[in-house]
Amino acid sequence: MSISDISTSIGNIHLSNPLILASGILDENGHTMKRILSEGAAAVVTKSIGMEERNGYKPPIVATDDPIFINAVGLPNPGINDVGEEIKIARESGKPIIGSIFGKDENEFIHLAVKMQEYGVSAVELNLSCPHVKGFGSEIGGDPTLVKKIVKGVKGSISIPAWAKLSPNVTNLLDIAIAASDSDALVLINTVRGMKIDIYSGRPVLSNKVGGLSGSSIKPVGIRCVYEVKSNLDIPVIGVGGIESALDAVEYIMAGATAVQIGTALWKYGRAVFSKVSMELVEFMSSEGYEKIEEFRGIALK
Ligand SMILES: Cc1cc2nc3c(=O)[nH]c(=O)nc-3n(C[C@H](O)[C@H](O)[C@H](O)COP(=O)(O)O)c2cc1C
Repeated sequence: MSISDISTSIGNIHLSNPLILASGILDENGHTMKRILSEGAAAVVTKSIGMEERNGYKPPIVATDDPIFINAVGLPNPGINDVGEEIKIARESGKPIIGSIFGKDENEFIHLAVKMQEYGVSAVELNLSCPHVKGFGSEIGGDPTLVKKIVKGVKGSISIPAWAKLSPNVTNLLDIAIAASDSDALVLINTVRGMKIDIYSGRPVLSNKVGGLSGSSIKPVGIRCVYEVKSNLDIPVIGVGGIESALDAVEYIMAGATAVQIGTALWKYGRAVFSKVSMELVEFMSSEGYEKIEEFRGIALK
C-alpha cells in the first residue's frame, strides 16, 4: 500500500504538510518559532508586526470557558525594527517564515512589507482585519477601496508573495475578497467579534470589552467563508479557525483550502498539535484511499 503524501504548495512555497502556525500564538520569539517548526509545523506566521512597539491592552486579555476562547490582546509587538533578529533565528529551521504585518494605511503596509522582505521571510501576510484595535485593522478590512490600494501597493513594492488575511466581521465577504484578489493567496478567517459578561460583577470580562472569538466555536464560520470565496474566485485560500484535528483540516481542504493554520488549539494540545494533526491526516487519507491532498481538495464545491 502506498503511503499518503501530505505535502502541498502555495504558489512557489512548498510545505511538507498543510499545517502552518497562525499569527499571534507563540510566534514573536525566534527560538519558539524554530521549536514549533522542528515539532511538526510546516511553516509559521509571525505575530502581526506594526511600525512601532506596542504593549497591547491591560489584563484581562483573554476570556475562556471551553470551547469559548475570546481575546483582546491589542496587537502587542516589538515593532518592525526589532523583529529582524527573531526572524533570522526562526529561518535557521530552513522552513518558510511568513511575516504578518498591520498598518493604518497603504504606506505603512508597504514600509513593513519591504522590511519583512529584507529580513528574508518567504511571504508577507497582510493583517487587514484585526477586529479589536481601535483605529487600525477594524476599519481597513471592511473597506474594499482601501483593501485594494494596500494589496496593490504591497504587490508593487516586493518580489515575494503577499497573502491577504480577511475578517469574517464584514457584511459582504466576497466584495472584500475580490478587492484583495491581486494578492497571491487569501487567508480566511481572523477572529469573530465577541464578548463575555461576568454575571456576578455585571461587567464585561475583557478590559477592551469586545474581543475576538477563536477556536472550535468558529470553525463553521471559517468553513463557510472559505467555501463562499472558493465558489466565486480562483485564488489559493489558506483556511484558519477552530482546527484541532485532521478532520477539521480536511473539512477546510474539502471547502477548497490549499493549506490551513492552527492557533487556539495550541492552548489545548501544546506544540504537539502539529504532529498529532499530521499523523491523523495520514491515517484519514489511507483509510479513505487518498494518496494526495489534491484528490479531495475542493470536492465540496462540485
Ligand atoms: C491570542 C491571539 C492572538 C492573535 N493575534 C493575531 C495577530 O497578531 N494577527 C493576526 O492576523 N491574527 C491574530 N490572531 C488570530 C489567529 O491568527 C486566527 O486567525 C484565529 O485565532 C482563528 O484561528 P484559531 O481558531 O485556530 O485560533 C490571534 C488569535 C489569538 C487567539
